[in-house]
Amino acid sequence: MSNTIPAEFQIKEQIHQQRYLLNGELRAWAGDSTTVYSTISSTEEYATTALGSIPDMGEKEALEALDAAQKAYNKGQGVWPTMHVKDRIECMEKFVKQMETKREEIVKLLMWEIGKSLPDSQKEFDRTVEYVYDTIEDYKQLDRDAAKFHKHDGVYAHIKRGPLGVVLCLGPYNYPLNETFALLIPAIIMGNTAIFKPAKHGVLLITPLLEAFQNSFPKGVINILFGRGRAVAAPIMQTGKVDILALIGNSKSANALQNQHPKSNRLRLVLGLEAKNPAIVLPDADMKLTINEVVAGTTSFNGQRCTALKIVYVHNDVSETFLKQLATSVDGLKFGNPWEDGVKLTPLPEPQKPEYIQELIDDAIAKGAKIINKKGGKRFDNYIWPAILYPVTKDMRVYQEEQFGPVIPVVSFQDIEEPLDDMADSNYGQQVSLFGKDVYALSPLIDALVNLVCRVNLNSSCQRGPDVYPFTGRKDSAQATLSVHDALRSFSIRTFVAFKDNDLNNETIENLLGAKLSNFVSTDYIL
Ligand code: G3H
Repeated sequence: MSNTIPAEFQIKEQIHQQRYLLNGELRAWAGDSTTVYSTISSTEEYATTALGSIPDMGEKEALEALDAAQKAYNKGQGVWPTMHVKDRIECMEKFVKQMETKREEIVKLLMWEIGKSLPDSQKEFDRTVEYVYDTIEDYKQLDRDAAKFHKHDGVYAHIKRGPLGVVLCLGPYNYPLNETFALLIPAIIMGNTAIFKPAKHGVLLITPLLEAFQNSFPKGVINILFGRGRAVAAPIMQTGKVDILALIGNSKSANALQNQHPKSNRLRLVLGLEAKNPAIVLPDADMKLTINEVVAGTTSFNGQRCTALKIVYVHNDVSETFLKQLATSVDGLKFGNPWEDGVKLTPLPEPQKPEYIQELIDDAIAKGAKIINKKGGKRFDNYIWPAILYPVTKDMRVYQEEQFGPVIPVVSFQDIEEPLDDMADSNYGQQVSLFGKDVYALSPLIDALVNLVCRVNLNSSCQRGPDVYPFTGRKDSAQATLSVHDALRSFSIRTFVAFKDNDLNNETIENLLGAKLSNFVSTDYIL
């Protein structure tokens, strides 16, 4: 790996984040801090790079943030939850315009903090900005569709969607901007107030946005905390004052947090959790296309995607060809620092990840698997080359655990019932990739698979995007649905004004509409 870092990507100054956003103020932090390290080396001889530091907050600040969010919501009577939709949209537009000016800084931090390649970091930023604009457009449409009165059985109804309250928002490290904002933006725009704690990696990249958050929204609408989840999220949940837990992470943390809430019946969950998406390669699969998609699905961002292909089932008839071609393709990928041209494999942000992947490999080998590719398992200071492991069996850890890293377990099958049964028995249920052409084989499979997962990708690797499509999962993989459109629904509830059809009510409503005093009862069409 070359250690020549282009001038524009060098870390010239560390970022010591000493401010946090609470109740509309950027407060100074004087307490303990945690150093943020990148596993990327800045020197010829390998050493991690210190990028700066973040506040190490605790219960006190967590409860202050909760208090600020609660006051801003003010039991549904706050300025924000009662504001006219078009005014909330204006705040969001002000925010996103400022966000767009921070592209360079954020992209650079994405590369250093989580090791994402330059094109993927740029894509994450652009995709997030687009997500905000699409959310605004969708919300306008939602509001336009609701700008009317229904009438049934002599009762009129003016039905809209309203906020639920205070949202605790926790995002993941692999998409610290995109996935976090895919929760936060719809949550806020619907009139909720939020406490947001960035993920364990990908924290400093929030710094350039603090001022934009501060000057775009009324005080207390968004409060940003730094620190460990256990230290700040747990005390907030224990109060029972959180109305929505929005978390992209794993079911263990989701369960631990929701169990802290004393009245879980009041808690809405919006969760994107772990997955072990399989690829199923049928005997008639187009091999070239399949290899390309399986390589992308298993190795993009080093397999650190909830949608990554984490187990590959290949039919016995084609397993030899498949493994040979897969090995050549995986070993042909380029490893390097995120800014290097054509780089596909990049340093892992979690220092202990190569060791964990090594454990999975060792366990699989001890139980009878082999590493199929020459470079498989090759160790670097901050990386381990994706090992193609075959044949993988159910007793292996790599079969059972969500590896979330660079290792490719391959299982062979003779009867399609084998992968289907495995999927039915699995705790996961997000997506599957199905490779084949014969419609007589595909049709019954598709019909069964749509009930085991929530997206069947035909001759394509699994992915979340385009973000307008529903993103969800069954079993331990998700709760609620995210997409530009669905997220607005997930973070709101239908609420309405109803009245019996009589002269008094009709006149009152006509006057109400004419006076344009209510932000809720309004048939104004937002363009
Ligand atoms: O980590 C899970 C992400 O939602 C995956 O998104 O499929 O666009 O990489 P992606």
